[in-house]
Amino acid sequence: MKILITGATSGIGRQLALDYNADGHEVIAIGRNEEALAELDLLGMTSHQIDLTDRAQALDFFATLTVVDLAILNAGTCEYVDLPEFDSAMVARVMRANVESMAISIEGVLPLLRQSSAPHLVGVGSSAAYLPLPRAEAYGASKAAVAYLIDTLRVDLARENIAVSLVSPGFVRTPLTDRNDFPMPMRIEVEEASRRIRKGIAERKKEIHFPKRFTLVMKLFGLLPRGLWLPIAKRMVKK
Ligand SMILES: NC(=O)c1ccc[n+]([C@@H]2O[C@H](COP(=O)([O-])OP(=O)(O)OC[C@H]3O[C@@H](n4cnc5c(N)ncnc54)[C@H](OP(=O)(O)O)[C@@H]3O)[C@@H](O)[C@H]2O)c1
Repeated sequence: MKILITGATSGIGRQLALDYNADGHEVIAIGRNEEALAELDLLGMTSHQIDLTDRAQALDFFATLTVVDLAILNAGTCEYVDLPEFDSAMVARVMRANVESMAISIEGVLPLLRQSSAPHLVGVGSSAAYLPLPRAEAYGASKAAVAYLIDTLRVDLARENIAVSLVSPGFVRTPLTDRNDFPMPMRIEVEEASRRIRKGIAERKKEIHFPKRFTLVMKLFGLLPRGLWLPIAKRMVKK
């Protein structure tokens, strides 16, 4: 398979790139960190330094490619709100990195997927989108938008037989979560996350979420009337 992975220089995306490459697939790795990209090149992947929030740069790059069988749109970031400050510039930054970059990637990659005989588009969201979590106003909103974007694309692309999957991880140990200063229940290692994602992709699952004992509880809490969820969420807020 020819596989394109965004955010392949770190964390989940990097592990996916390493594992698919080791399995003999052709991997196109996208990120910004030059050193990390060079390491992927040495392993036989084709890496490209692209800022996916730069629409012109990204679309010019996608236009140089041909057929892609599997596109994993994983690039993203996380920043938290720190009240009493509410920084709208930070919200815009997170929306740009997580939502706008994904929309740009979709625009670029769709024509390439259409050239494949078994195309598959995968978007990485987050289980944070299931319910309102403390300080996650920006990150949660961006991932709720990603979930809607991907779930809606599945509807509209169904008649073209383009498979569409949404990945909603719980906590995974990566540079992104290493920055967190709060407890991360059931955090798993990146190798395990890659294994779960690749299995879900191989089975062409519409929704890939893990670890299940965490994401199912999150989903259940998400179903609660907000009035019942509030006292639980309030207890999670640091004094
Ligand atoms: N780790 C978790 O617990 C967790 C849980 C739920 C969802 N997720 C989601 O999983 C995805 C990967 O997260 P991670 O934990 O692996 O994070 P990470 O280690 O920080 O990796 C993020 C990746 O995204 C790339 N990226 C960010 N902005 C970019 C841009 N403008 N253009 C190109 N590449 C960009 C980074 O590339 P450079 O470093 O080269 O710039 C890096 O390769 C994210 O979408 C995240 O929201 C993670």
